[in-house]
Amino acid sequence: MVMVVTAIIAMFLLCSPSSVAILLNKLPLPAPLTGPESLAFDRNGGGPYVTSSDGRIFKYVGPNEGFREYAYTTPNRNRTICDGLADFSVVQAICGRSLGLGFNHQTGDLYAADAYLGLVKIGPNGGGNVTQLSAPAQGNSTRFADGLDVDPDTGIVYYTIASTNYQLKDFQTVVSSGSGDSSGSLLRYDPSTNQTTVLLSNLTIPSGVAVSANGSFVLVSEYLANRIQRVWLKGPRANSSEIFLQLAGRPDNIKRNSRGQFWISVNSFLGSPRSPGCSTLPSGVRVTENGFILQIVSLAEEYGAEAASEVQEYNGTLYGGSLLASYATIFTP
Ligand SMILES: *[C@@H]1O[C@H](CO)[C@@H](O)[C@H](O)[C@H]1NC(C)=O
Ligand SMILES: *[C@@H]1O[C@H](CO)[C@@H](O)[C@H](O)[C@H]1NC(C)=O
Ligand SMILES: *[C@@H]1O[C@H](CO)[C@@H](O)[C@H](O)[C@H]1NC(C)=O
Ligand SMILES: *[C@@H]1O[C@H](CO)[C@@H](O)[C@H](O)[C@H]1NC(C)=O
Ligand SMILES: *[C@@H]1O[C@H](CO)[C@@H](O)[C@H](O)[C@H]1NC(C)=O
Ligand SMILES: *[C@@H]1O[C@H](CO)[C@@H](O)[C@H](O)[C@H]1NC(C)=O
Ligand SMILES: *[C@@H]1O[C@H](CO)[C@@H](O)[C@H](O)[C@H]1NC(C)=O
Ligand SMILES: *[C@@H]1O[C@H](CO)[C@@H](O)[C@H](O)[C@H]1NC(C)=O
Repeated sequence: MVMVVTAIIAMFLLCSPSSVAILLNKLPLPAPLTGPESLAFDRNGGGPYVTSSDGRIFKYVGPNEGFREYAYTTPNRNRTICDGLADFSVVQAICGRSLGLGFNHQTGDLYAADAYLGLVKIGPNGGGNVTQLSAPAQGNSTRFADGLDVDPDTGIVYYTIASTNYQLKDFQTVVSSGSGDSSGSLLRYDPSTNQTTVLLSNLTIPSGVAVSANGSFVLVSEYLANRIQRVWLKGPRANSSEIFLQLAGRPDNIKRNSRGQFWISVNSFLGSPRSPGCSTLPSGVRVTENGFILQIVSLAEEYGAEAASEVQEYNGTLYGGSLLASYATIFTP
């Protein structure tokens, strides 16, 4: 019952955000790159580090230089073919395309969920020092890894496989066809044993993931199902899952803030007639550990009709990422 009430409130509020975010700064990627889908900060507070359309990971080093190349996910990268690649190119399959990012602050390793290579680990000095951690794809299944979070206490990596039927280059087709592909899954990689386990499968384009502050549960967003599921990891409900939040739009990445709350980026229905009044999406939605909505901010000024993939609160500042835009953003709610 509580869940139903929350759902109705969420649908209402998403059509009338409580505030409109004010854009403070755009951090442009080197042209012609796009798609800083997710952001991460290193243990010294450096960054943001962002993903990009040509598979490289960039670090923001300040307003003078902007983004500087940090790493890439294919060790034998051919720069003639790969550097400067646009998103949704078939060549991304050999150049890599990271989507989710997260540091292990104890080791300095950067983990990336790559749409073509699966889960990879990049050593503390970046560059091409990359270890592939996903098993090779079987048959026609893909390694379309998408969302990622690292538990800061245990170093355990949670990540999603968005689909085993489709690849990133097919993504817009899947979204517009409304096929409702449910071949996605949520996985857990334990670096101390190298073991990967599946926590939840049959997910509808699971795009974002975040572990709770004390590691007692993990949230996973299902982009095409407009909802977020919670998987309990500890306590009496361990190993069970439930609906955490039903939304009026498409939830992408989820990021925990320093108070243990979560920011969810939510996009529009992409033309669905079911959302005639929701022209103010995309939005950032801040919720408590219990799924209670605290704040909704419109990202219309930051991203307009383009996808807002991530909202992340860091050092008291809000950062935005996008699969389609050519820049990351800094904004205030
Ligand atoms: C975050 O705060 C720390 C401590 O004040 C500072 O060293 C770091 O540069 C900040 N990072 C960013 C990205 O603002
Ligand atoms: C990289 O790709 C270019 C263009 O296809 C090709 O001419 C070159 O030989 C490749 N370099 C390597 C090291 O494979
Ligand atoms: C590569 O990364 C691993 C950890 O992921 C690290 O132990 C190793 O020292 C790194 N190698 C270089 C050459 O940086
Ligand atoms: C994957 O393979 C199965 C079995 O051959 C087939 O039914 C399915 O359509 C394939 N999916 C794609 C996306 O090619
Ligand atoms: C995990 O895999 C890496 C890379 O394949 C290997 O270097 C390491 O020894 C393995 N660790 C364990 C505990 O199996
Ligand atoms: C659920 O996922 C499993 C494993 O990926 C698969 O074998 C099964 O067919 C799926 N069930 C449905 C109803 O899609
Ligand atoms: C984790 O935190 C939640 C919320 O603060 C609390 O209810 C729960 O008991 C904690 N679980 C563990 C295992 O510490
Ligand atoms: C959850 O699953 C793990 C691994 O299968 C098992 O060790 C644990 O006992 C289970 N916990 C509960 C509460 O069922």
